[in-house]
Amino acid sequence: MNVREVIKLPHPMLRKKAHEVRDFGDDFQKLVEDMVITMREEDGVGLAAPQVNQSIRLIVIEYPEDDNQEDAEKKLFIMANPEIVKWSEETELGMEGCLSVPDIVGEVERALKVEVRGLNRYGKKMKVRAKGWLARVFQHEIDHLDGILFVDRATTLYKTSDEEAAQAEQV
Ligand code: CO
Repeated sequence: MNVREVIKLPHPMLRKKAHEVRDFGDDFQKLVEDMVITMREEDGVGLAAPQVNQSIRLIVIEYPEDDNQEDAEKKLFIMANPEIVKWSEETELGMEGCLSVPDIVGEVERALKVEVRGLNRYGKKMKVRAKGWLARVFQHEIDHLDGILFVDRATTLYKTSDEEAAQAEQV
């Protein structure tokens, strides 16, 4: 397993629409492992394959399912070809950062709840119902697969030298 380099803006890969995963073989399994350790090494709560310069539709997320519980345990989600199939009408503003966009965070309006369908690392169908921050992270990571960054959606951007802004999670 290797920590991979996380590419940063203005790298053109971050703006490309990523390709569907079709091959769940050894190279793909290695990429999954590398992305998980890279996310942990970088203290991120999510990572999309284009951020490690791979144009495929793969995301990894490690975050509690319900972060309202104080001792909520983190859960690892690995999803290929993820698609949001339902959005709640209710939205929420929240502060986001991104490992590929250094020194900037922003307030982004996202659906409060989403239902995501995709495939697990072995190509089997999976479905996740997420709310709150976990729903936000899914929306952020799936945007990466379409070349969309949080700075495109943010209503306000802040430099991370601002104390409050520096506390935003990196996704
Ligand atoms: Co990001």
